[in-house]
Amino acid sequence: MIGRLNHVAIAVPDLDAAAEQYRSALGANVGAPQDEPDHGVTVIFIELPNTKIELLYPLGESSPIQGFLDKNPAGGIHHICYEVDDILSARDHLIETGARVLGTGEPKIGAHGKPVLFLHPKDFNGCLIELEQV
Ligand code: CO
Repeated sequence: MIGRLNHVAIAVPDLDAAAEQYRSALGANVGAPQDEPDHGVTVIFIELPNTKIELLYPLGESSPIQGFLDKNPAGGIHHICYEVDDILSARDHLIETGARVLGTGEPKIGAHGKPVLFLHPKDFNGCLIELEQV
């Protein structure tokens, strides 16, 4: 059911410093910061030949990223995103297998303007998983 690895998301304590490190130390193609108020994050996408890296920084009062950074002050991998062809049928199948979908269970529009859902990390070996319909 799952397709390509769309991105690996890393929560960072300093967005400018992280972007500069990927640009100058790793020589990556680093995008511009985008605010995503619906998700409580500012994101920067880094294009790699085979996937993307999503740098995440808290935006607003109740950002889910702030709690993560409080527990992981140096930053860390926050989630990984897999592509699916049909997010609603993927969701229904996952719920049938006992997985929990976060939030209302209805897809939200993610950072690429496409529908996304998140799956409970306790159901996936401690890893928060995002599904994105492509
Ligand atoms: Co993501």
